[in-house]
Amino acid sequence: MAKALVLGGATGLVGQALARTLAPAGWETRIFSRTDGNLLDMDFLRGLLEETEADVVFNALGWTRVDAAEEHPEEALLANRTLPDALARTLAALGRGHLVHFSTDFVFSGPHDGPWRETDTPHPVSVYGRTKLAGEEAVLRALPERSCVLRTAWLFGPGRSNFVDVILNACRKRDAVSVVHDQIGSPTYTLDLARWAEKLARARATGIWHAVNSGVASWCELASEAIALTSGPCRVEPIPGSDWPQAAERPANSALDNSKLAEFLGEKPRPWPQALREYLFREYTAAEGGRGH
Ligand SMILES: NC(=O)c1ccc[n+]([C@@H]2O[C@H](COP(=O)([O-])OP(=O)(O)OC[C@H]3O[C@@H](n4cnc5c(N)ncnc54)[C@H](OP(=O)(O)O)[C@@H]3O)[C@@H](O)[C@H]2O)c1
Repeated sequence: MAKALVLGGATGLVGQALARTLAPAGWETRIFSRTDGNLLDMDFLRGLLEETEADVVFNALGWTRVDAAEEHPEEALLANRTLPDALARTLAALGRGHLVHFSTDFVFSGPHDGPWRETDTPHPVSVYGRTKLAGEEAVLRALPERSCVLRTAWLFGPGRSNFVDVILNACRKRDAVSVVHDQIGSPTYTLDLARWAEKLARARATGIWHAVNSGVASWCELASEAIALTSGPCRVEPIPGSDWPQAAERPANSALDNSKLAEFLGEKPRPWPQALREYLFREYTAAEGGRGH
């Protein structure tokens, strides 16, 4: 049985989806949580990797608070570049173990015709995006033959509050929500992402992969679809991003092209509205009353 080590698996949105997916797919899975030790301590990191003898390390750990990163660039850099760099170097030195590292659509910005491909040149406009790009580069440089980077985006899924949950919670308290309409991206279901990651890990894939559901949306369209699917009476009022000031700049178009993943899977990842329907049914309709939303 192949062994997996999941960093960020105890509490993270992606990590928890991996934890739910890997064991049923036949992996002996070890979940690393913050309380197990300090991964930035090189002796601890090496000891953990030696002891677990993981065939694949899934790094779903990161500094993901995009706005807070502007005020805390050093901490964001430690989690998003220093740590994956150390991980990749240690695996290289040990001579065993594949690394599946997660990254973001926010490595892109600027005008672009259609979704971004893996071969397009990144140009991050936020501290978060820059630290994530530095992490990708470090991983692929230190462990080119035994690592892959999965860029994903606009996640919804169980286990940790996300944009869809925030909108639906707001709709319980108000009869209208204002949502940005002039930023577009690739909404993605964490449980789909985890399934693709498992398949890529099994194939020991290398290089960069855009791992998103099919289709493009604005935040406004994602919110409207979530509200419509839960039959909420809430109104969505479209606003420009300039009316919703945030510490970090967001790209106007960060949609990702998933053709490379589709070719690998042998089928196009399902459209995001279909995946959203499954998430909302599982987490809201079927569990109504159980989650306190
Ligand atoms: N969420 C999205 O929409 C999105 C979009 C694009 C890309 N991504 C990428 O997907 C990956 C996973 O994101 P996510 O949304 O799952 O993040 P998340 O929910 O914020 O989870 C991050 C995980 O990392 C852990 N962590 C952070 N710093 C740590 C440290 N110094 N030591 C130990 N554990 C630490 C957190 O533990 P605690 O809970 O204890 O803090 C948590 O388990 C990241 O690479 C992110 O860039 C996410």
